Amino acid sequence: MQEQPKEGKLVSYSKTIMTEMIMPNDTNPMGNLMGGYLMRWMDIACAVCAARHCESQVATASVDHISFHEPIRLGDVITLNAQVTRAFNTSVEIFVEVSASDITGANPRQSNHAYFTFVAIDRNTGHPMKVPPVIPITNEEKKQFEVASRRRELRLILAGKLKPENAQELRNFFTDFK
Ligand SMILES: CC(C)(COP(=O)(O)OP(=O)(O)OC[C@H]1O[C@@H](n2cnc3c(N)ncnc32)[C@H](O)[C@@H]1OP(=O)(O)O)[C@@H](O)C(=O)NCCC(=O)NCCS
Repeated sequence: MQEQPKEGKLVSYSKTIMTEMIMPNDTNPMGNLMGGYLMRWMDIACAVCAARHCESQVATASVDHISFHEPIRLGDVITLNAQVTRAFNTSVEIFVEVSASDITGANPRQSNHAYFTFVAIDRNTGHPMKVPPVIPITNEEKKQFEVASRRRELRLILAGKLKPENAQELRNFFTDFK
């Protein structure tokens, strides 16, 4: 296993790739993958990624907007790429991208993406526990890391857990535009 820096963990440490083939039981009456099955796989890939980063059990706290751009057909193969973007206090944000192709790899296309938030749960107490920081290395990882705090504030406002006037990162962002 790759040794991790003392101040946190690299994104690559917990990156999770999952592949599934669409079988008859996964489809709706039109022969396309049911959205709910895709969301289940997205949740699993992200949970594995979050648990690897946190080295603990994790609970799904929220899922940001998911839209389905293109139907995925019976017999298609989908690949889910999940990676941690940022760790906060007891929670981590995970980005998952889904692509589809036929079984030979032909007709490749991006299907959808989403951000999941997981909370690390202490096995002994059952309460949220502190998570290790994320160390972003690539430009893409740095961009995801930077914007994550604004996404977090927005989802906490929508969940009724943060007052808009206390959303400091969003305030700073919009003030910079003035
Ligand atoms: C997620 C859960 C552990 C949060 O517990 P809580 O008592 O509300 O804890 P807190 O308010 O102290 O928040 C803990 C963390 O969760 C985050 N959080 C809470 N609600 C959130 C939401 N709706 N969206 C994103 N993050 C959320 C907080 O921001 C905090 O993160 P931080 O410490 O990094 O800042 C709790 O609500 C729970 O167990 N929910 C059920 C989880 C579950 O069963 N998931 C599967 C669904 S079937």
